[in-house]
Amino acid sequence: MDWPSGRTAFVTGGASGIGLGIAKALARAGANVALVDRDIGKAREEASRIATDAAKVFAIELDISDDEAWAGAADQAEEALGPVSLLFNNAGVGGSDGHPADIAPTVWRWVFSVNTHAQFYGVRTFLPRFEKRGGKAHIVNTASMAGLVPMAESPIYSASKFASVGLSLSLREKFQGSDIGVSVLCPGTINTSLPRTAAKALSLVTGKDETLSLEDAEAWLAHGANPDDLGIIVLDAIRRRQFFILTHSDWAPLTQSIHDEISGTFRGIEKDLGPDLLARAIIAGKESAVSAR
Ligand SMILES: NC(=O)c1ccc[n+]([C@@H]2O[C@H](COP(=O)([O-])OP(=O)(O)OC[C@H]3O[C@@H](n4cnc5c(N)ncnc54)[C@H](O)[C@@H]3O)[C@@H](O)[C@H]2O)c1
Repeated sequence: MDWPSGRTAFVTGGASGIGLGIAKALARAGANVALVDRDIGKAREEASRIATDAAKVFAIELDISDDEAWAGAADQAEEALGPVSLLFNNAGVGGSDGHPADIAPTVWRWVFSVNTHAQFYGVRTFLPRFEKRGGKAHIVNTASMAGLVPMAESPIYSASKFASVGLSLSLREKFQGSDIGVSVLCPGTINTSLPRTAAKALSLVTGKDETLSLEDAEAWLAHGANPDDLGIIVLDAIRRRQFFILTHSDWAPLTQSIHDEISGTFRGIEKDLGPDLLARAIIAGKESAVSAR
């Protein structure tokens, strides 16, 4: 039986779009899936639709931004499906676009609470369980291409997704060589209901109808790739323990230009402040960034 057949996965945002695509691929591969979502009605509907003879799929209601609710949701998943060994920190929201100075701090905090803080809550809930039980486990954080390439019109979303990439890179360093694999999923445009789901949730935060200006965002996503195809890509990638999971090579020149800019700036340093022992220790593989401090 190919891993992760017979294992249990916890997929946030599993009721829709990318999370649902991942859940379908997992269930087809024989893994049990906890479909975790704020929208429990949709999660239940999809759970009964995608379960197979070999894979149980169980819907769990969780607002991932509620740190105190995570342990209960994890217990529910494990009671229903057995020990979780795959965590997909996938649910996310978009923020309001526009001029950075016009973003309300409540909106900024809300986007970070869902896109960034919740990924940390997932990690702090499941890592101790993975470590205590031992055996193969995997964490996938869904970031975005907006976590590798800055989006001028979406500063909150982009900042929250860069944070997700940063968290994932740190986890990868920490657990390299162990049984705990880490990946970061950075999709390009995928055809999901993200703008509408996020705008509805944003309306609750701002008290205004945020669904009125959705046309542009929905038009972009309508041309996006199929989330079920992405689910298959994600499953293949975690089987190979691939760290970056990428979808559209059209983004390559944009990521390249940022890395070229950083390298070029280093080459152009006029006044180097001298040896940095931390950098040298990390390069020599002698120290982790934390213990060298
Ligand atoms: N669609 C794209 O083009 C695209 C591109 C890059 C990254 N992403 C990322 O992919 C992830 C999934 O988005 P999607 O496109 O599938 O959108 P989607 O709206 O179709 O699905 C997101 C799901 O997350 C759930 N959700 C939202 N907030 C939640 C919360 N606080 N607690 C629990 N569940 C919550 C929603 O109910 C929904 O079922 C997000 O992190 C998003 O930022 C999407």
